[in-house]
Amino acid sequence: MSAPQGWWREAVVYEVYVRSFADSDGDGVGDLPGITSRLPYLRDLGVDALWITPFYPSPQHDHGYDVADYCAVDPRFGSLEDLDTLLDTAHGLGLRVIVDLVPNHTSSEHPWFVEALAAPPGSPARSRYLFRTGRGAGAEEPPNNWESVFGGPAWTRVEGTDQWYLHLFDSTQPDLDWRNPEVAQMFEGVLQFWLDRGVDGFRVDVAHGLFKEESLRDQDRPEEPDAGDAPREIVERTLADEPMWDQPEVHEVYRSWRRLVDDYSDEHGTDRMVVAEAWTQTPESMARFVRPDELHQSFNFSWLLADWSAPAFAEVVRGTLAAMAPVDASPTWVLSNHDVVRHPTRYGGGARGLARARAATLVMLALPGSCYLYQGEELGLEEVDVAPEHRQDPSWFRTGEVGRDGCRVPMPWSGQEPPYGFGPPGSTPWIPQPADWGGLTVEAQRADPGSTWSFYQRALAARHRHARGAGPVELIAAPAEWGADVLAFRRGSLGVVLNCGEVPVPLPTGRLLVASGDSDPGVLAPDHAVWLELPQGSSGPSSISL
Ligand code: GLC
Repeated sequence: MSAPQGWWREAVVYEVYVRSFADSDGDGVGDLPGITSRLPYLRDLGVDALWITPFYPSPQHDHGYDVADYCAVDPRFGSLEDLDTLLDTAHGLGLRVIVDLVPNHTSSEHPWFVEALAAPPGSPARSRYLFRTGRGAGAEEPPNNWESVFGGPAWTRVEGTDQWYLHLFDSTQPDLDWRNPEVAQMFEGVLQFWLDRGVDGFRVDVAHGLFKEESLRDQDRPEEPDAGDAPREIVERTLADEPMWDQPEVHEVYRSWRRLVDDYSDEHGTDRMVVAEAWTQTPESMARFVRPDELHQSFNFSWLLADWSAPAFAEVVRGTLAAMAPVDASPTWVLSNHDVVRHPTRYGGGARGLARARAATLVMLALPGSCYLYQGEELGLEEVDVAPEHRQDPSWFRTGEVGRDGCRVPMPWSGQEPPYGFGPPGSTPWIPQPADWGGLTVEAQRADPGSTWSFYQRALAARHRHARGAGPVELIAAPAEWGADVLAFRRGSLGVVLNCGEVPVPLPTGRLLVASGDSDPGVLAPDHAVWLELPQGSSGPSSISL
């Protein structure tokens, strides 16, 4: 396939959570042939690419983010031939495919870790991971005070010895020591393997985590963060002293990957990319991951973290664009993924949460750069309250707190009862689907022009026509009659208005291109957004003035 250079700069990428998208063989877990069978669906929806979460052999303690073999397919998801078929079919439909790379840690069942446990302290096998002697007379305390993102200490003791190993996530996910050159070599081989297989890009898991401060000193943690309702991972990321994250040495790794991927693209006349999952503390530190000789993109979680407020959203847009400009990187935008509470629920749930979610999505789709969507958001799915006996997130097992299962419930495709076409009739999805999802299926929503699915399809089509390649973002100071809670910007003749306030606001003059929902003529209802084609040179109180 010949690829125009930089396809990813303005792409809409759809995240497929492999376990929960489509189950072809009825074992209750999604798989690669299931994804292939649904590729025409993604083409019809109007996305440009899909990112597939890890499908490699894994004991599935963290649902694939614990990889036991980086260059194979777990039989429960299919085979390498199934992946070839998926790639061919996707490319035939004009869709690109990004796969997940998990370089921060392996599974505890990876042959390297098995070998390390069997080897003595100080051995080369152990030096691929971070083994250290415990503190206290009997080494009964972990080597430092770091906590796992999933709760509890970030260290596990090797039974009957004074050695502990570091795991920033689950104890079945030991962190690699990236100061050991063997580790870097191994991952270059992994990149090469999947590039040769024909993937169009990689999403780098925990891209900010590979290097830790060499001393492995204690984290300065004066006060416990107030967890509130924020997802655990997000709370962890607001800590200021982070000797385990975002260390300068990581950037040399990404420079070498950039060279590898670009050389490959040049040699094969294709255009491959790498996007980082880096939970950085500021837009400036995010920008360091996408300097011209580093990765192509980095997820920008600032919108996902922002409150429902026009000033907050304006700051997200301003801060992101300002940080990306000096490094000439294409910004990214994301409202939901498999690690966070779904955005209709974050915005309050019910009809209001859904209206807000659609409005935020419409605004996001108008911005320059790439948008990353998460499966099921096009159906307006809410976070599900998964019963305790069905919860499977490792953080649930480590803390007893509700984890991420509620955003990972298998997709409802058709019919009136589980498995709603996710798997063959009579099959049992790995997380139970709610009994009242019959009206939310793809089948039901495609037939309804007012549905969230139809809205997404219209918005994606409008993005292709009106937002891709449009001019730079100009934020608009709200006229007095709008109050403070309206976000407005223009990109050339495209005008975008979002009403985060409590009362309807008058709409500027302009042809309506797409709306997140129904408003009375001439006004924009609270929790709604619109795109307008603005008349040339428009100004004045009831039109957008710059
Ligand atoms: C990333 C993944 C998450 C996983 C974690 C550990 O944050 O998105 O699902 O649990 O890394 O690999």
